[in-house]
Amino acid sequence: MTQKNKKLIAGNWKMNGLQGALNEIEAIAKKLTDYADKGTFLICPPATLIAGAKALAGDALHIGAQDCHSEKNGAFTGDISAEMVADLGGRFVIVGHSERREGHHESNAMVKAKAETALEQGIKPIVCCGETLQQREAGEAIGFVTQQIAESTPDSLSKDGEIALAYEPIWAIGTGKTASVDDVAEMHVALRKTLVDKFGARGHTVEILYGGSVKPENANALLHTQDVDGALVGGASLKAESFLGIVAAL
Ligand code: 13P
Repeated sequence: MTQKNKKLIAGNWKMNGLQGALNEIEAIAKKLTDYADKGTFLICPPATLIAGAKALAGDALHIGAQDCHSEKNGAFTGDISAEMVADLGGRFVIVGHSERREGHHESNAMVKAKAETALEQGIKPIVCCGETLQQREAGEAIGFVTQQIAESTPDSLSKDGEIALAYEPIWAIGTGKTASVDDVAEMHVALRKTLVDKFGARGHTVEILYGGSVKPENANALLHTQDVDGALVGGASLKAESFLGIVAAL
């Protein structure tokens, strides 16, 4: 069973958080100094809070974005570029979240282009994948998700750990349902093989996160499952207490 020395625990605030929520960033950052040797920690607030969060995050907590455009800059009203994220001190960006694939019709090719643009700006993309309940029930989950990742990741990696993946079964997001540890292990092992087939030995250095209703109560089991190198947390990352409860499972 492969285990990385440090897990990546990332929070995705989605479209939640006004300026008052920066208190949570401050509370998280203060406490994380106790865990610095155990993991890498990241919060991706809405774009409006990246600068404010960065000012409070200190060294123990990274701040990232939830999306970026595939082009470096230009006439794309409402979008933000990877360069803008980097300019604010962001070092990570989530790309291809299922809420963007579904709500904004993002294809694997678009997600791949976003990941490549992020890398050009020195930002680590967290490339998301995940199946619907219908696909899982039809026995198509592994085939669908591994193809998503084969097509949504850059053609090559120039250094170890340059990208991360997040496996987030759509039916487990925000529902309180989590995939069983056996299903998570089966998928993460399949994703590892996809990465190694595509990138060679460097595929072993890519962190594969699990996401979907991760909370303090289930974090210990999920984080100690085969080939699970961390978690991408939605709802439970909004409050310092629950995010730190997940961190404590390390
Ligand atoms: P929840 O943790 O709220 O299920 O969200 C998961 C997710 O989509 C993180 O990107």
